[in-house]
Amino acid sequence: MNSQDYVDLTTSSGKLSERLVANAKSQSINFSEWLYAKMPDFLESSRILDLGCGTGLQTNFFLSQINNVGGVVAVDASQESLNSIPDDKKLTKFAADFNNFQEMGALLGRKKFDIINSTYAIYYCERPIEFIEFMREYFLAPEGKFVITGPTWVHELYSLIVGEFGENTEITKTINFMESTLLPYVRSNYQTCDLHILNNTSVFGSIGEVSQFLGNTSYAARIDSLELIKFLKSNKVLEFRKTSLMAIF
Ligand SMILES: C[S@@+](CC[C@H](N)C(=O)[O-])C[C@H]1O[C@@H](n2cnc3c(N)ncnc32)[C@H](O)[C@@H]1O
Repeated sequence: MNSQDYVDLTTSSGKLSERLVANAKSQSINFSEWLYAKMPDFLESSRILDLGCGTGLQTNFFLSQINNVGGVVAVDASQESLNSIPDDKKLTKFAADFNNFQEMGALLGRKKFDIINSTYAIYYCERPIEFIEFMREYFLAPEGKFVITGPTWVHELYSLIVGEFGENTEITKTINFMESTLLPYVRSNYQTCDLHILNNTSVFGSIGEVSQFLGNTSYAARIDSLELIKFLKSNKVLEFRKTSLMAIF
């Protein structure tokens, strides 16, 4: 069972919004443009499920690509995040916990989706592979695609924190999910899988910006903020490589 401080940090709407602003400002390559360019083709009439939609970054992209025959269902644990996504007649929003398969099944009913997308979210589920299999069996259309995107081991900011303050196993599990859990699963269960890698760098303007960014993540959840700033000041690094991996299967 994940600890409460970790759950609060990963579902906080305010922290997510601030993180997205900081990401947009610091990233060398625009993550969203890369993500949308690599998405599998889908029709204007497609039905799309966005798992862990947060404040709707990808949901809004999908909505802009479909017509009134299609539809987007956006699911997140945070009602506050869902509320921040503007209403749209092509959009249905559900507050639900990935860990409660039964609730998820009841909310989605008999719907089948052409794309099931999850961007930087599905690894917060305690049993992510079971969840993927459940969603695939009941909610993915026969020719549909699962699209899962998340971090890789190349995450210099998190590695820096771990090197100094030690590991938080809950966070490491999420950072490692794509390479340690998802890829081996996909390789042994699917004949085809498209993989895309984005090698990016976050470039911050000051130590204050790094520390503010960290305050909106779970990476430094249990670290004293004064100790953290002292360390960041002594370390002086403002650029951190990070890689995103997208799996389509
Ligand atoms: C890093 S955010 C990504 C949001 C969005 N996809 C984006 O890229 O902006 C992860 C999202 O997963 C949601 N989440 C975390 N644990 C969850 C759970 N157990 N069930 C449902 N959603 C969850 C959080 O509330 C958060 O909105």
